[in-house]
Amino acid sequence: MKLLVVGGGGREHAVIKKLRENPSVTEIFALPGNGGIAHDATCVDIAATDVAKIAAFAAENGVDYAVVTPDDPLVLGCVDALEAKGIPCFGPRKNAAIIEGSKVFSKNLMKKYGIPTADYAVFDAPKAALDYLATAPIPTVVKADGLALGKGVVVAMTREEAEDAVRSIMQDKKFGASGNQIVIEEFLSGPEVSVLSFTDGHTVVPMVSSMDHKRAGDNDTGLNTGGMGTIAPNPYYTEEIAAECMEKIFLPTIHAMNAEGRPFKGCLYFGLMLTKDGPKVIEYNCRFGDPETQVVLPLLESDLLTVMQAVTDERLADCAVRFAKKHACCVVMASAGYPASYEKGFEITIPEALRDSVFVAGAKQKGGALVTSGGRVLGVCAVADSLKEAIGAAYEKVGHIRFDNAYYRRDIGAKALQAEEQ
Ligand code: AMP
Ligand code: GLY
Repeated sequence: MKLLVVGGGGREHAVIKKLRENPSVTEIFALPGNGGIAHDATCVDIAATDVAKIAAFAAENGVDYAVVTPDDPLVLGCVDALEAKGIPCFGPRKNAAIIEGSKVFSKNLMKKYGIPTADYAVFDAPKAALDYLATAPIPTVVKADGLALGKGVVVAMTREEAEDAVRSIMQDKKFGASGNQIVIEEFLSGPEVSVLSFTDGHTVVPMVSSMDHKRAGDNDTGLNTGGMGTIAPNPYYTEEIAAECMEKIFLPTIHAMNAEGRPFKGCLYFGLMLTKDGPKVIEYNCRFGDPETQVVLPLLESDLLTVMQAVTDERLADCAVRFAKKHACCVVMASAGYPASYEKGFEITIPEALRDSVFVAGAKQKGGALVTSGGRVLGVCAVADSLKEAIGAAYEKVGHIRFDNAYYRRDIGAKALQAEEQ
């Protein structure tokens, strides 16, 4: 089988490594891939957002199955374009990807179907939003409606911060048309849990839970990033909470999307906050999380391609999806300065024995060497019988990987370890 994977980050590297375990896979094209993915797939220089070119490439090259993982192509209708060429896909169609593509849509969906989430108000003009903020409870959270490279959410601890966020999103159009509408919502608190799930629109199969570390600095300080590391499973997510989420959040969401005529097939990511009033949805993503995937897929014992095809064919109920009863930790090695400005072009050395543990995110091939080309450069992963061992093993591996200007958090999993011990 010839596969095509759209995207070129650490998440796609993890997906590709897992897909390769299936013996019927003869070739994987990564569009565009990256310098590290090139070890495991054939990289083709087509941007992940060039939906028409992707579909044409797939048709011309006899692709049997396509996996679309990044948010932008999904929201742009990449799956629809591939399906129009007769290529079966893993990923939601455009009309379902809106669950991530528009926060106004997802908030209204949750309200209409009684799915627990933060209270909110929607605005399409800055004046009304600023008037509302004059008396709104603080802290508050300001969110751009559309995709904003993961940067469209401002948790404002003061009224001024909230007002600045409204001005930069709606007046200065920091995220372009994504800021034509905004959501202002109630500030919630509690541990956060990421739950990725497989769903074919009928059945929902949650994967092992995970915990992201979004801030750049240790102890959750500094700027928000795409994610500096992950652990799985998340110790806060007990079996009891999982059952409550299935009943009050996961199944109602699948039913809501069906009732709206937007059946969701693919990976639906539930970003949850475990508040004192129960679990609530912070966000939906229409795709695998990054870097959650880098700890979730190494724990998947079942064959990924088989599960994905069961989703596509709507027979997930008949498909076994098993996870190892182990723990995983992924430490992201970034370029110092990320998520603000940073230097790139530094050579990376990864010992051969560690190649299987490394998911490459921002690196390219240059003159036969792998060099840094992005903010998040690598995800270094370890699986072990306990969380403590997984964390220790991941950091041990990090110690053997070198590039100039490398920066990583030293406390990935520390909070989870504390929670486990309580
Ligand atoms: P998002 O970009 O939607 O993942 O949001 C980024 C982060 O903002 C989340 O992981 C939360 O930590 C935080 N956040 C989003 N919404 C809320 C909320 N209503 N209350 C408190 N924190 C929030
Ligand atoms: N790690 C969060 C995300 O993928 O959106």
